[in-house]
Amino acid sequence: MSLPLRTVSGMRPTGPLHLGHYFGAIKNWVALQDEMQCLYFVADWHALTSEFEDPQRIREFVPELVKDWIVSGLDPEKCVIFQQSMVKEHAELTLLLSMITPVSWLERNPTYKEQQQEITTKDLSNFGFLGYPVLMAADILMYRPKWVPVGQDQLPHLELTREIARRFNSLYGGYFPEPEARLTPAAKCPGLDGRKMSKSYGNSIMLREPLEEIAPKVRGMFTDKNRLRRSDPGNPSVCNLYPYHELMTDAATREEICKGCTSATFGCVDCKKIFMQSLARFLEPLHERRAELEKNPDFVQDVLSDGNKRARVVARETMEGVRERIGFNFKE
Ligand code: TRP
Repeated sequence: MSLPLRTVSGMRPTGPLHLGHYFGAIKNWVALQDEMQCLYFVADWHALTSEFEDPQRIREFVPELVKDWIVSGLDPEKCVIFQQSMVKEHAELTLLLSMITPVSWLERNPTYKEQQQEITTKDLSNFGFLGYPVLMAADILMYRPKWVPVGQDQLPHLELTREIARRFNSLYGGYFPEPEARLTPAAKCPGLDGRKMSKSYGNSIMLREPLEEIAPKVRGMFTDKNRLRRSDPGNPSVCNLYPYHELMTDAATREEICKGCTSATFGCVDCKKIFMQSLARFLEPLHERRAELEKNPDFVQDVLSDGNKRARVVARETMEGVRERIGFNFKE
């Protein structure tokens, strides 16, 4: 870990990863591994803020998430992969930051308001869920990064992190750099039905899904709604399938697709066949790597144990500085 800058990011272990996660976040995480010291963690405490009634599910998804990361290209030799709840310093820092975080900041948080309104199937009136951004601020500030690779949806949380850092610095003396968002270059990866790709909409292609199971879903997928007959010319810029070609099909083939589609010499069925080929080229190596990983049942645990240790070294150092600044560095 001799690279000059450090970055940190996390994901909640709430389900298998899909293409939207890959193109929206992980691809960027993989690229960053060669640029700076990267710490990526499984945010299992964050998952617990809303899934506390079913913690067993979180437990199952922890190793699955790590497998999805590794098959996608995160390399435990290059980055630190760890589990949030195994680095207890995150809890202590959350507690200390909670002292200086006004409740009004949390109540104003747009994600909080939105989820409280939209998710009616779960009870989200708990203290931990309101405090979600404080835990997230602790996750980030612990590693004193300059940048944090996050999606657009996490910007309000990052802004709160910066406000909390500022408050800490002004109360106790400058300590935390204010981290900036490093937005993932916007990758358009809609769901199969044109809405956002999301596990809860059932419109996703999972990274670990066998191609035979994906094929019928692709056959039923929306394309250009205005192209009703094979003889109608289509328009790739309003087509729901075309963005996938932009992510996975080479430029020369894309050109052919566009020509064929706009001149109606080429149908949506043909286009979907090419897409299945592109998808196979993309997913098959991931599936092969997953099969390799499954052969070694200890591997994921070893990666996490090693990552937890490495994260703790940084976390302990940060906490010493934090306690010292607050004057809570008591002797035993
Ligand atoms: N809230 C993030 C999400 O839902 C996950 C997360 C938790 C995170 N802690 C973080 C992301 C720290 C970046 C940095 O996607």
